[in-house]
Amino acid sequence: MLSREDNQKLTRVGPGTPMGELMRRYWMPIAAIDEFARVSAKPVRLMGEDLILYRDRSGTYGLVDRHCPHRNADMANGYIEDCGFRCNYHGWLFDQTGRCLSQPYEDVAHPEARFRDKVRITAYPVEVVADMVWAYLGPEPVPLIPDWEVFHWENGFRQIVFANVECNWFQCQENSIDPVHFEWLHLNWSERLRGNTDGGSPRHVKVAFEEFEYGHVYRRLREGMTESHPLWQVGRVCLWPNALFTGTHFEWRVPVDDENTLSVTWSYTKVPKDREPCVQEGAIPSWVGPTRKDGEWIASHVMNQDFIAWTGQGRVSDRTREHLGPSDEGILMVRRRFFDDMERVARGEDPKAVIRDPATNRRLRLPVADRKAVEEGISREDMLAHPFMRGFLVDGYPFQSGQPDAVRKDYAQAMGIE
Ligand code: FES
Ligand SMILES: [Fe+2]
Repeated sequence: MLSREDNQKLTRVGPGTPMGELMRRYWMPIAAIDEFARVSAKPVRLMGEDLILYRDRSGTYGLVDRHCPHRNADMANGYIEDCGFRCNYHGWLFDQTGRCLSQPYEDVAHPEARFRDKVRITAYPVEVVADMVWAYLGPEPVPLIPDWEVFHWENGFRQIVFANVECNWFQCQENSIDPVHFEWLHLNWSERLRGNTDGGSPRHVKVAFEEFEYGHVYRRLREGMTESHPLWQVGRVCLWPNALFTGTHFEWRVPVDDENTLSVTWSYTKVPKDREPCVQEGAIPSWVGPTRKDGEWIASHVMNQDFIAWTGQGRVSDRTREHLGPSDEGILMVRRRFFDDMERVARGEDPKAVIRDPATNRRLRLPVADRKAVEEGISREDMLAHPFMRGFLVDGYPFQSGQPDAVRKDYAQAMGIE
């Protein structure tokens, strides 16, 4: 149980709030580059700030204030130029650093005043890594985007999947350190949804949690497993500060504002050995999955089930009324680390897992339970016999509903399935 004040401290992300300041020390994935084949600019709301993300004709990305510094026009209706982004109200043009490059009327009528040199728009750094556009809203010096080893793995089919989740990001992230929900929210509930009411999936008998350099690990032991099982030996990763890493995909819970979260999944599916080499042409495909159909929740896929649980906790979960038990030990560890880190940031220190040394930031390794299978690949037969990789061959993309046909076709082609 938390006090109301502590709950607010954990959940509020606007500028100047303790958590808002902490989260501004990290790069956030906010878009996929393949979106910019369809649009040149899009509005983005990030940690309570309204912004425009664009790619100009030179291919440079920029992230600027949504409202023009001239007279507050909505820059969502602006347009790109060879260099920069232009407000459609009176044509002021800005570049990705926030400089005003042109003021069409003032430049003609009063060039000597050089009024444009006196105007700036708020602009934040953006970078592309793993075909995602990342944004950094914090102070300088700007840290590095972690170069996770998975981004370099070959012979896999990659896709980027978004969802708009209507609740605070922190309850989404607490799910990243919650092993037991897997048994009930996913396995047992899926059986019930299929009409199967007898029995249940093997029970969790032991869970364990540890902190490491880039986050926390949770380990589980379920009935029928021995302690040599990779999910007990290695476990899964609650990645600092706002992601889950399962060994084959990342799920970031990006705070849109205090009551909304952008779920960003970067998924990698190893193809069976007989489909190597597998080289994906062009940008990694991205898509947005719906959470409801005809007003009803979609419960058919793993992450859709998560979305239902998270939003069911309330727009901002009221932690003054919770009762944490032994399975929640990891949640307590993570909360403690966040409170400590908010204090570190207030003292002017770097919080956990901020990476600044380019020599360190090379193919960073994370714990991967089935490392050999997902890194080196396995045969189709072994994949079909593998407890969780089997699903990639028989069920297609199991995590989120709404995969477009074009992506499904490319996936089937890569994997060698009908
Ligand atoms: S409000 Fe944008 S140029 Fe005038
Ligand atoms: Fe889950």
